[in-house]
Amino acid sequence: MITVIGSINMDIVVKTDIFPKQGETVLGNLFTTIPGGKGANQAVAAARLGSPVQMIGAVGEDSFGKELYSNLKNENIDVEAIAKTTNSTGIANILLHDSDNRIIVVPGANFDVTKEVVDANLERIKKSSIVMMQLEIPVETIEYVLDLCQQLNIPVLLNPAPAGNFKKEWIEKVTYLTPNETECEYLFGADVEAILSKYPNKMIVTLGGDGAAFHNGEKFVKITGYKTTPVDTTGAGDTFNGAFAHAIISGYSIDKAVQFANIAASLSVEKFGAQGGMPSNEAVLARMEELK
Ligand code: RIB
Repeated sequence: MITVIGSINMDIVVKTDIFPKQGETVLGNLFTTIPGGKGANQAVAAARLGSPVQMIGAVGEDSFGKELYSNLKNENIDVEAIAKTTNSTGIANILLHDSDNRIIVVPGANFDVTKEVVDANLERIKKSSIVMMQLEIPVETIEYVLDLCQQLNIPVLLNPAPAGNFKKEWIEKVTYLTPNETECEYLFGADVEAILSKYPNKMIVTLGGDGAAFHNGEKFVKITGYKTTPVDTTGAGDTFNGAFAHAIISGYSIDKAVQFANIAASLSVEKFGAQGGMPSNEAVLARMEELK
């Protein structure tokens, strides 16, 4: 069982060909609301690949909350531990421009994922093969879960996004840390190879279209990106994380798990929306076969 303790957001997406300067108004060419949130996205990615997934999170008692709850349920995720609170459901304001995205998250109910919520779900957490977290819920909750999982001997995958909330002392407590290149540079500096060699088989840096890298204890390993034509890169990192967790609990080596996650992430950008392009296990395996 994969347990995701994390955020659930409604993504409020605007696409524009012209990125406005400060004080300028421009006309965009698309507006939509679509399910997102790093926690929910990672849960969906793992569930689509066939892993049993439970989500511990919170939504508001508003229309977004209802929609997001149903969406996760429809993705075969166990939603019993999703709290409904008096705060508004979290949202992410996403600006798509020039094949990339800029995101502002307003956490709302995600900040109601407290230590008490974790305690209330202790028996569920004990059933986990791996716990996955990101940094869109309160920092105190992350710290609490890290200690809990250490006591319970449950592996933790921490995706340090947004990186501003990360604390370096957590590294010893996590099994896998998965920053992207920007987060890695912000947290540890620009020399990716040197940083990875300090945390072998633990830190995996995702490199967008260029793939991913880690150190296997003997050498630096770079998994090349699969070239694709991206429609929307939102959620590619989340797909990587969900797919990596799925692969690890399925018994893959780290090397194979990174390859698998890399292919899953490359497939995910071929469709619109954070969750829109997340692939099935069959689709990932078929693409892996093609690449042999
Ligand atoms: O990683 C992409 C996600 O970040 C979006 O779905 C948005 O909700 C934000 O959490």
